[in-house]
Amino acid sequence: MQLKSLFTLALAIGTATVNAKVQSGCSFSTTTITDPADIATLNACPTIDGSIEITGDEITALLLPSVQEIDGNINIFNSSSIVTVSFNGLTSVNGTLAIQALTALNSIDFTSLQVVNELDLVSLPSLAGLTIVEGIQKANSIQLSDTALSVLPFTTFNTVGVLNINNNKNISSINLPLETVTDTLLLSFNNDHAEIVLDDLIWASNLTIQDVSSVSLKNLTAVNGSLILGYNTFTQVAADNLETVGVNVEIFANDDLTKISLSNLTTIGGELRLFNNTLLENVGNSSFESLSKIKGTLNAEGNFENFTLPALSQVAGDFNLISTNDDFDCDDFDALHSASKIQGHNYTCASPSSSSSESGSSSKTASGSESSSGSSSSSSPSSSSSSSKKSEAQSNLVSVSMVFMTLIGTVFTMLL
Ligand SMILES: *[C@@H]1O[C@H](CO)[C@@H](O)[C@H](O)[C@H]1NC(C)=O
Ligand SMILES: *[C@@H]1O[C@H](CO)[C@@H](O)[C@H](O)[C@H]1NC(C)=O
Ligand SMILES: *[C@@H]1O[C@H](CO)[C@@H](O)[C@H](O)[C@H]1NC(C)=O
Ligand SMILES: *[C@@H]1O[C@H](CO)[C@@H](O)[C@H](O)[C@H]1NC(C)=O
Ligand SMILES: *[C@@H]1O[C@H](CO)[C@@H](O)[C@H](O)[C@H]1NC(C)=O
Ligand SMILES: *[C@@H]1O[C@H](CO)[C@@H](O)[C@H](O)[C@H]1NC(C)=O
Ligand SMILES: *[C@@H]1O[C@H](CO)[C@@H](O)[C@H](O)[C@H]1NC(C)=O
Ligand SMILES: *[C@@H]1O[C@H](CO)[C@@H](O)[C@H](O)[C@H]1NC(C)=O
Ligand SMILES: *[C@@H]1O[C@H](CO)[C@@H](O)[C@H](O)[C@H]1NC(C)=O
Ligand SMILES: *[C@@H]1O[C@H](CO)[C@@H](O)[C@H](O)[C@H]1NC(C)=O
Ligand SMILES: *[C@@H]1O[C@H](CO)[C@@H](O)[C@H](O)[C@H]1NC(C)=O
Repeated sequence: MQLKSLFTLALAIGTATVNAKVQSGCSFSTTTITDPADIATLNACPTIDGSIEITGDEITALLLPSVQEIDGNINIFNSSSIVTVSFNGLTSVNGTLAIQALTALNSIDFTSLQVVNELDLVSLPSLAGLTIVEGIQKANSIQLSDTALSVLPFTTFNTVGVLNINNNKNISSINLPLETVTDTLLLSFNNDHAEIVLDDLIWASNLTIQDVSSVSLKNLTAVNGSLILGYNTFTQVAADNLETVGVNVEIFANDDLTKISLSNLTTIGGELRLFNNTLLENVGNSSFESLSKIKGTLNAEGNFENFTLPALSQVAGDFNLISTNDDFDCDDFDALHSASKIQGHNYTCASPSSSSSESGSSSKTASGSESSSGSSSSSSPSSSSSSSKKSEAQSNLVSVSMVFMTLIGTVFTMLL
């Protein structure tokens, strides 16, 4: 459909139904723009409503300085010719603004942008400049993925629904004033040396941090969903104000990690899962000093010399702890199991020196029984669903991104 006819039609309908909106803006039904000449028509709209796609290899500079507000959805995608996008008069996006798969795009101007419902900047491998002068003060969902940006644009909001910053290989520092994240905060696979500071963060629904060299979470008290820390290069991780995690705690494939300090964590609503942390030998009394309840399962594998949970009073699900360290013994957990504090159907605690493994809670075997060596345990944490390989984790990220971008629909799916 041609932009002009739709535009005229929209204006005609708008006039017929009489409202002030038409005088101040423009309404579009689904419209696809490929011709540079149509950009000027669009730029005549201070407020854009409706659903607009801009694509193709004819446009080089997408200049829309007169647009002040986007009420609908604009998707700018699949172009190897667009080098610059300017929305320097744009103050608010009430729908979704997506800019994705523009291989030559090197700068975006959002000088005046302050309020965003959903902003997706995805697969922009040449994007080195993003200008946001005022600072975004309110945002529901922001995704920044696979760009060449080296600094995060200035943000001033302290609460957000989704913030997903992944695969921006030049971003090596993320320091945000966030206090609450109502859905998901995901910081993954940016620069390998990325340093994260989120000292104002009090709670997040879900928090995933992957491939960073340090993270500071001084004020974090709750993760309502899951806390996931994987593929990081830090030697220590601490969140000593954290009291509850609503779903899972997953700490895996952190090759240099030697110390975990979640000393105030009392309850895990789902699973505690630790695996592939090669150097993690001491999960001592202070690591999970206050952990009392695990409502799901405990799954841990590693070369643990110590693995102690001094406050543990209940594991409601299965228990699977496998240490490859000669000095580890299962006595404490066997005692908890005998006392029915570990309640799941399957119980396995295994090390080279002691093993006990059992299914069912009615009959109990003595601890240290060598009859089943722990290898009988059928569930390996590393083969679980969380993310068994880095590449798999990355493709999971892609599918998560796709969920976030429902409005972008099939076109992006085809691109992938
Ligand atoms: C933004 O959208 C919501 C609902 O979609 C609407 O209630 C609100 O008035 C809109 N705000 C603006 C500034 O148009
Ligand atoms: C991103 O990092 C690479 C490698 O370190 C460097 O060559 C490139 O210039 C950087 N790009 C930008 C936009 O800073
Ligand atoms: C942590 O939160 C408290 C208030 O809850 C605040 O006073 C303090 O400055 C915060 N700490 C950091 C490091 O932001
Ligand atoms: C998350 O937990 C915090 C602290 O318990 C609570 O204040 C907040 O309302 C919870 N958020 C959600 C979305 O449930
Ligand atoms: C985030 O956590 C909530 C629970 O607080 C959960 O219901 C939701 O599915 C999670 N979202 C994602 C994207 O994992
Ligand atoms: C841990 O929790 C206790 C009481 O719930 C509190 O007094 C303390 O400040 C918290 N923080 C740390 C870092 O222990
Ligand atoms: C295990 O704990 C003991 C007793 O606290 C300590 O002496 C030992 O160094 C710990 N092992 C490791 C690997 O830190
Ligand atoms: C944990 O504390 C108990 C009791 O205080 C002590 O016997 C044990 O050696 C400690 N374990 C480690 C690994 O520090
Ligand atoms: C528990 O053990 C049973 C058989 O003993 C097995 O079929 C089942 O898969 C196990 N469940 C888990 C979660 O390991
Ligand atoms: C954990 O280690 C095993 C064995 O090296 C490997 O096959 C698996 O992919 C690893 N999982 C993760 C999530 O790194
Ligand atoms: C992307 O653009 C190219 C060239 O204009 C075209 O051939 C291709 O079909 C487009 N892909 C999608 C998914 O729109």
